Amino acid sequence: MKQRIQEYAKRLKLSWTREHYHEIRATNNEEYLLRLLEREIQQRDERKTNLLLQQATLPKVAGTPFDWKDIKLGQGLTREYVLHGGFIENQENLIFYGGVGTGKTFLSSLISLHAIQQQGKKVKFYTVASLVNQLLDAHEKGSLSRLFKQIEKLDVVILDELGYIPLHKQGAELLFQVISMCYETKSMIITTNLQFGQWNHVFGDPILTEAVIDRLIHHSHLIVFSGESHRYRESLLQNK
Ligand SMILES: Nc1ncnc2c1ncn2[C@@H]1O[C@H](COP(=O)(O)OP(=O)(O)O)[C@@H](O)[C@H]1O
Ligand SMILES: [Mg+2]
Repeated sequence: MKQRIQEYAKRLKLSWTREHYHEIRATNNEEYLLRLLEREIQQRDERKTNLLLQQATLPKVAGTPFDWKDIKLGQGLTREYVLHGGFIENQENLIFYGGVGTGKTFLSSLISLHAIQQQGKKVKFYTVASLVNQLLDAHEKGSLSRLFKQIEKLDVVILDELGYIPLHKQGAELLFQVISMCYETKSMIITTNLQFGQWNHVFGDPILTEAVIDRLIHHSHLIVFSGESHRYRESLLQNK
């Protein structure tokens, strides 16, 4: 009997049941089935979350709590809305503007974790440099449409560190294509150390820059990270 149960469970892809069905204690059939299904669903959810986490390639999140003191959310925006993904439901974007070490990457990761674990969203974290490299590479190999399809499936795209390096013409154009693709269908979080007025230096072409900003501005919230660097603060503390 055991063998047949395992075989049927396998055919039905009930992997928890297959190994553990005999561990459930219940006083009647109904309760038994309920507990069994609960465990099966729980295991599937966990597996899905782990896969989403793997695919998101998030940077490691600091163990310390996030300090909101120097974060200026702007009118109508709440921490809850930002952290718990209200903006994702509304397909809005967040632009994080501020200096190095002020928590832009940290907050992007926290939001991503929440979106994956609580909302089951598909998230992908890219530095702008790594995405542009992947785009150029895919372009060269003729696999651009495959990469675009992968991006198309995402709910949230993080573009970290816009502005640290200027892009070459083709890289800028490909990045623009990604931003256009995400426009109004998914959420982006873009972190940058540059004001909009300086984005020209990144995209290298005023018309393209204007097109990028135009796509972003209507559905975005600007969040200003105005503190001094935590990295600096932490290394000072460590040296005491
Ligand atoms: N607002 C903050 N609250 C708590 N820790 C922070 C904050 N900002 C930065 N840190 C600490 O500094 C580290 C670097 O921050 P990071 O998010 O990488 O800065 P940025 O991306 O703005 O350059 C974080 O891993 C964290 O330990
Ligand atoms: Mg960063």
